[in-house]
Amino acid sequence: MPGKASCPGGLIVIGVITLCAVRINSEIWSNEVSDIEYGKLGSNVTLVCKASLSGYPVDWRLNGSAVLPRQALPSNSSLTLIDTDLSMEGNYSCLDEGGNLLWATKLRLGHMPGLVSVSCRMSNHHRVLCSWEQSVKTHLPTKYIASYRDRSNAVEPCHQDSFRPNECSILHPTVWHHYHIVNVTEVNPLGSETTLVRVQLRDLLKPDPPEAVTPEPVVGQPRRLLVRWRYPSSWPKDEGFPLRFQLRYRPQGSINWSLLNSTGTVLQITDVLVAHRHVVQVQAMDDLKFGQWSDWTPEVEALPWIEPKTDPELSRQSEEFTAFPDYAELESSTAKSPDIEVDKYRSLGVLISLGLIAGIVLSMLSALIIFLWVRHRRRDEVTKQELTSMVKMKSLPI
Ligand SMILES: *[C@@H]1O[C@H](CO)[C@@H](O)[C@H](O)[C@H]1NC(C)=O
Ligand SMILES: *[C@@H]1O[C@H](CO)[C@@H](O)[C@H](O)[C@H]1NC(C)=O
Ligand SMILES: *[C@@H]1O[C@H](CO)[C@@H](O)[C@H](O)[C@H]1NC(C)=O
Ligand SMILES: *[C@@H]1O[C@H](CO)[C@@H](O)[C@H](O)[C@H]1NC(C)=O
Repeated sequence: MPGKASCPGGLIVIGVITLCAVRINSEIWSNEVSDIEYGKLGSNVTLVCKASLSGYPVDWRLNGSAVLPRQALPSNSSLTLIDTDLSMEGNYSCLDEGGNLLWATKLRLGHMPGLVSVSCRMSNHHRVLCSWEQSVKTHLPTKYIASYRDRSNAVEPCHQDSFRPNECSILHPTVWHHYHIVNVTEVNPLGSETTLVRVQLRDLLKPDPPEAVTPEPVVGQPRRLLVRWRYPSSWPKDEGFPLRFQLRYRPQGSINWSLLNSTGTVLQITDVLVAHRHVVQVQAMDDLKFGQWSDWTPEVEALPWIEPKTDPELSRQSEEFTAFPDYAELESSTAKSPDIEVDKYRSLGVLISLGLIAGIVLSMLSALIIFLWVRHRRRDEVTKQELTSMVKMKSLPI
């Protein structure tokens, strides 16, 4: 995780700079549960039997037993525990001489809050997620108050979820390219401690790696791989912040990566080694080049398309390679049987239309013959009539 920081070291890491720590006294626990007392481990803790009449000696009990820790010094109506350790925790009660309970308390021992080590992540433009770890194990109930200031200096709460007490979110950071100061204050019954970290959002932005990276062979192309992937689901795609991507690939066994850039989520590699398995990874970054590249996606492997061999020995070998599902090839093989059907129908259609054309030509021919024959006969009749009329004319008396 980037941006880890802790105050004493003054560590400066990408995006987060620890400024300082302030120790403030807080009384939020003192009167919350009246029958619990809190003491500092390693210090001297004095319990006072509050209901006793001054001057009268009292009997002390721990967990109901008269056996007290070795370093417990009773004096009058109080009990001082020297150099406390965790074994001195328990129920303390004081009794009067008659054995009547005067007062009881539960003692819990622990440490003052310490600085926390805060790290912030920003996997999109809308949310900065900060989380922290205790540097001092206090053994005491602990609360965190988280807030932030941006350049306008207005203090805003950093949103906390009761299920995740060590996390808070800055939602929709205002002027996202400026820095924010995050205040995480650890509070326990003994006091509080504030850790301030400066968060440079511009450097902090780091998308999650892309998802569902799938390289596939391209049928008929033994030197190509088609790689698809998706935007990381934590990156809202439709809100005007596109990502750019880098894809790297190498033949399995090689250490030299080749790099390709893309703004889309599909890319064709055109120069893979024939019949070699290749390793592919993708990373993402804000397209305006703010922030950092995401981590690389886990390595995925793929084999390019291999030309099918006719030699049975070779084809057995290539079968071993094609353990990778070749969907394009599956598709083309399932498409074969309907193709044959279609061809059958197509040739039948050709035959029918050929027959039709022949029929039409034949009938046109016969019509022509009949027409010519009829015309010829008619002309014959005409000449006969002419002849007879000429004969008639000749035979007419002049
Ligand atoms: C605690 O009490 C012991 C004995 O009275 C004393 O020697 C010691 O200095 C005290 N420690 C602190 C931290 O006050
Ligand atoms: C201490 O006191 C509390 C409440 O008075 C009680 O619930 C708890 O059992 C006691 N513990 C021991 C070890 O006596
Ligand atoms: C008293 O009880 C507490 C639990 O309430 C335990 O942690 C502690 O060890 C006990 N102390 C003794 C001296 O028995
Ligand atoms: C940090 O937060 C705590 C708790 O809300 C507050 O008391 C303190 O003043 C804040 N410190 C700074 C420097 O903002």
